[in-house]
Formats: sequence, C-alpha cells, structure tokens
Amino acid sequence: MTRDEIPTPALLLDLDRFERNIAKMAAHVKTAGKKLRPHSKTHKCPEIAHRQVAAGAAGICVAKLAEAEVMASAGVRNLLITTEVVGPEKVGRLVGVLARQPETLVVVDHPDNVRELGRAMEKAGLVLNVLVDIDVGGRRTGVQPGDPAVELARAVGREPALNLRGLQGYAGHCAHVMGFEERRRTSRRWMGRLMKTRELFEKQGLPMDIVTGGSTGTFNIDVELDGLTELQSGSYCVMDLDYRRIGGKDGGADYGDFEMALTVLATVISVPSAEMAMIDAGLKAFSTDKPFVPEAVEWPGVEYSWAGDEHGRLTVTEPGRRPPLGERIEFFPPHCDPTINLYDRIYAMRGDKVEAVWDIAARGRSQ
Ligand SMILES: Cc1ncc(COP(=O)(O)O)c(C=O)c1O
Repeated sequence: MTRDEIPTPALLLDLDRFERNIAKMAAHVKTAGKKLRPHSKTHKCPEIAHRQVAAGAAGICVAKLAEAEVMASAGVRNLLITTEVVGPEKVGRLVGVLARQPETLVVVDHPDNVRELGRAMEKAGLVLNVLVDIDVGGRRTGVQPGDPAVELARAVGREPALNLRGLQGYAGHCAHVMGFEERRRTSRRWMGRLMKTRELFEKQGLPMDIVTGGSTGTFNIDVELDGLTELQSGSYCVMDLDYRRIGGKDGGADYGDFEMALTVLATVISVPSAEMAMIDAGLKAFSTDKPFVPEAVEWPGVEYSWAGDEHGRLTVTEPGRRPPLGERIEFFPPHCDPTINLYDRIYAMRGDKVEAVWDIAARGRSQ
C-alpha cells in the first residue's frame, strides 16, 4: 500500500523521524545515567511500547487501568499506572493485571486507598508495588510533599501486601512553559518539592529505588536532578504543534529536540471557490483542545479552519495555492495524545510506502 491508497482521514507516522526520536531519548537518558519509562498515554499502541522497550526503556507508563490491561495482555512489562486506582471495581481489575504482569507499579495519595489496595492484595495473595504520588504544583493528584508524604509512606509500610518502592512527581504544568530558561526555572522550582521529599524519605530510611517524573518539555532539565531515577516523557516519540512552539534550548522559537513524526492525512473533497478548499478532516479528525489549528505540511499558502464534525476549510493565503479536488495533504495535529485517541490504527510510513499498520489498541480505553 502507498500513501495514495490510504483511506482518509488517517493517522500517519513517519518512521524515520519516529525512530530518530526514540533513539535520541534513549541515548539522552543513558548518557545522563537515568532510566526511561515512556508514557504510553501519548500513543496507546502496544507496538510502539515494544519498540521503546527494545530501545532500552525500563518499562512503560500508562495513565489508566484500561490502558494497563491492554499493554499487559500485549506482553508489555514493568508497567507504572500513573493515576490512582480507586474503588472496588478498579482494584478488582488491577488484580487481573497483576496476574499477567506482577511487577506492575501503582501510585497512591490517600490512606483509604492504601488500605483498600492492601486488603485486596492480601485477599488475592499478591504483593503490589507502590509509589507515593507527590503534588509538585500541578494541583491534580498527589499528597503534599514533606511530612504528609512520609505519613502516607508509613501507612503503605503497615500493609503487608504492599511494597513501597519510591515516589512519583509529575509537573505537567511546567512542560509547556514557553522559552527554555523560563521552563527550566519553573520546573526546577516545582520539582524541588519532589527532591526535598526524597531527602526526607532517605533520612527516615524509607525505600527509594524509584523516583519518577518528567515530560518531553523538560527532558533535558529533569536529568539535572540527582535524585530523579527515571523520566516519564511521552510526546517526544511523535511530537505535535503544542510542543513545537515552546522554544528550544538553543534559544530558537521552535523546539527542535524531537521531530514532528505524526500527521493526519486528509483529502480535498470540494473546491467551492478559488480561495477555498474543503477537506474531509474536521472536529472528529483532530483534537480541538488547543487555541490553534492543524498546520498543512508541505502545502504552504493555505490556512486551516474548523468547518464542522467532518469538514475542515482551507483558506488560500497565497494566490494560486488552492489545492485541486482530490489532493491529499498531511497536517500536523495541535495535540498528539487526544488526536491519536480518535483513531483505531496508525499507518507507519517509510517515505510514501506503508511499512506497517499498527492497532491503537488502547484508544478510547480511559476506564
Ligand atoms: C503522569 C504523566 N507523566 C508523563 C507524561 C508525559 O508528558 P509529555 O507527553 O508531555 O512528555 C504525562 C502526560 O500528560 C503524564 O500525565
């Protein structure tokens, strides 16, 4: 199959760029003496997870239990579920994941959840690996750093079926701070909370073999933290417009550390005027959570605008640039994770040839 034969709208992965991204991050963490547990919430694709592990990743992060179920049954090992697993229905399913992948890690931020997990694991005759989740300023999940974290760690220690392994601190609010120096300053300030808590754990003799966190935007900042053992970056393997605009370490406007490997392929299905072309990719083909629009790759002189669930409008900004009926154009998506989540499969491209088609098996699996 070639690019011209792919039914549109479709999600495409440029394999050359993707492979360079994977190799670059793998080399980066190796040089820094850190581990990498890439976040698969970005791609939700077991094939990509296997490739990240083959390139040296120590395991794979998942955001949700349902993603863990997909990755575990695909044989992906050393999973870390980065969101708290709460309630009997979820905890029951977690036991199922552990049956396949017993080394799976979860995070906790509340003593009731610690008790719930402890009891369930005891009943199942299992031991569950646990990290204490720290709120490093994202105001999402996580116990407060310092003494509250130590207290929670002690609660974990009282549960015979729970095995405390360390800490998680994800500073998502720092990942897209514009400009490298500002991003570095902000990230170091907030990740300092995690590092202080780590010191406190060490002083108290609490287990500390895993201290995990970090993002694509801070991948070259997080490695400066001596106490961080592993990075959880996700988007780096495919990238998106949201990341491209945050500015690089070299002071440039574009963040060029990783390459834009992900596109949505669309077809021009109507040409109502000389200034306008309609494509078959609208609100159901791209995520719409960002204040900017998809960008046409290698078709300058047009500007995308939303035109409904199934339609996108290309307005000509340079004379003579209106694409003809039937033209196929690739677009960079504004935000990779929620865009990928809209598709069942990804076409892995080598130039114009489809080298493979991979299932986005955890797509829609947010339960
Ligand atoms: C807990 C956690 N870790 C890591 C990541 C990866 O971040 P990024 O895709 O910005 O590299 C995310 C993304 O939202 C996350 O929620």
